[in-house]
Amino acid sequence: MSQQHRQLVKENIELLGEDINALSQIFFRELFHIDISLKSVFPGNVIFLNRKFSNMLSTFKNVEHLEKISASVEKMGERHILQYGAQLAHFDSMQKALILALRDYHGDLFSVELEAAWNAVFSEVADIMAQAMEKIDRRHVTRVNYDAKGYDKDLLIDVNGVQGVFNVHQRFYDVIFEEPWVGQFFYGKSKEALINKQTKFMVAAFGGENLYTGDTPAFMHMHMFITEEMIRLRQRVLRQAILDEGFSDSVAERWLKVDDSFTESIVKAGTDECVLKCLGQMPVIAKKPAGYSS
Ligand code: HEM
Ligand code: HEM
Repeated sequence: MSQQHRQLVKENIELLGEDINALSQIFFRELFHIDISLKSVFPGNVIFLNRKFSNMLSTFKNVEHLEKISASVEKMGERHILQYGAQLAHFDSMQKALILALRDYHGDLFSVELEAAWNAVFSEVADIMAQAMEKIDRRHVTRVNYDAKGYDKDLLIDVNGVQGVFNVHQRFYDVIFEEPWVGQFFYGKSKEALINKQTKFMVAAFGGENLYTGDTPAFMHMHMFITEEMIRLRQRVLRQAILDEGFSDSVAERWLKVDDSFTESIVKAGTDECVLKCLGQMPVIAKKPAGYSS
């Protein structure tokens, strides 16, 4: 991206003045036309939308020294994926909507040169954000893509459907909540709510109806320092709950295979791998009690 492109975009934004709100309205009309699902990413009334649009444009206005502010643009990318629900694929829709809005707003004055400048500036900023988002995407917010996971539809039948999954989870959480080490993570949590959520989650993971509306396990656990040893302990408790519910060893194996497919996005080698959801939050660390044996 040349300095000339940066300068052109900056001047173009400055010229907008109060008209920025008019451009914002065309932009969101175009954006929702391209991808109606983005309405859930951008809820709220016109005033909110205008503020968000103006935030975005102010980034593009300040790219004169983009190299110097790249660390803060990376952080902004992280916020976008962790807090705002943005995904990599959204950048394309956004860029298209922005160019269409600018063309509509400027009419004949929107020269080829100006269009090239906007595209270059958008891409350069989006690339920095996307790279930071991609790093997080893999470890922390990999979408719950059930099809790519253990997917074992027969398993749901073999465990007597949703009720069977629920019963296993009831046994499982009864033990986990009382467990002196891993149980520490659950202080103050509602056991009933967790049993229900975990049941919906696993039913979907087994290929049944997807009624789970919570966050991905990766996101849910990103501030918890969960080690390999804890994972193995949790799996032993889960296996026992499945067996105690009267299911066979082979059913337990198949269940744990699906369960284990989520381990990679949860387990951490050190507390520095914990990602905090907001400023001031601390990683959740469970200390092994003295003389502990599981
Ligand atoms: C190069 C492209 C983009 C730039 C420069 C940009 C810039 C910004 C800035 C500066 C903010 C203010 C809050 C903050 O600094 O964290 C913001 C908020 C926001 N952005 Fe972006 N953004 C871009 C792309 C996207 C995409 C692709 C999406 C998703 C479709 C998105 C969704 C949002 C939402 C929902 C907010 C509001 C967050 C809130 O206030 O609750 N942005 N954006
Ligand atoms: C030792 C390992 C684990 C520990 C210590 C742990 C701990 C927790 C805790 C404390 C919560 C409650 C969070 C809250 O309400 O703020 C939770 C929620 C949850 N966990 Fe885990 N977890 C572990 C492994 C797993 C695994 C492997 C899976 C997936 C198979 C999983 C799936 C879930 C789900 C679906 C929720 C509910 C999320 C929601 O509220 O929507 N967890 N976990």
